[in-house]
Amino acid sequence: MAIRHLRLEGDDILKKKSREVDVVDEKIQILIDDMIETMHKYNGVGLAAVQVGVLKKVIVIDLYDDNGPIVLINPVILKTKGEHEVDEGCLSFPNQFAKVVRPEEVVAEYTDREGKRMRVKAKELLAQAICHEVDHLNGEVFIDKIIPGTLEYVEPEKN
Ligand code: NI
Repeated sequence: MAIRHLRLEGDDILKKKSREVDVVDEKIQILIDDMIETMHKYNGVGLAAVQVGVLKKVIVIDLYDDNGPIVLINPVILKTKGEHEVDEGCLSFPNQFAKVVRPEEVVAEYTDREGKRMRVKAKELLAQAICHEVDHLNGEVFIDKIIPGTLEYVEPEKN
């Protein structure tokens, strides 16, 4: 496993659309492991492959609960329900936080890392994370959909 280089604000790759994964092969497994390690290093809740410079439809999410990291390949949001204002940040926009409107619930379909097609009904933070990361796969970043006037810069804590 390896920490991959994070693509940050201003990098044009963040505006590009990712491509479907045809086969969940060894290369994709390595990408997934590296993405999880990179997400953990930067204390992120989610990471899309484009953020490490790979235009493939791969997402990892970790809510730091009992479920551990979740891997979603070729995710599709089938349904959304409700909406609410939530605080959001992104590893590609360090130290920036803002409010965005996200669905309260989503139903999504995805392929897991064993290659099985799965369906998840997600609420709250998991729903938010899935929406945020699927946006990345479409070349969209949260900063373009924030509620005006809510952007805050937060200095990182020094250890
Ligand atoms: Ni992000």
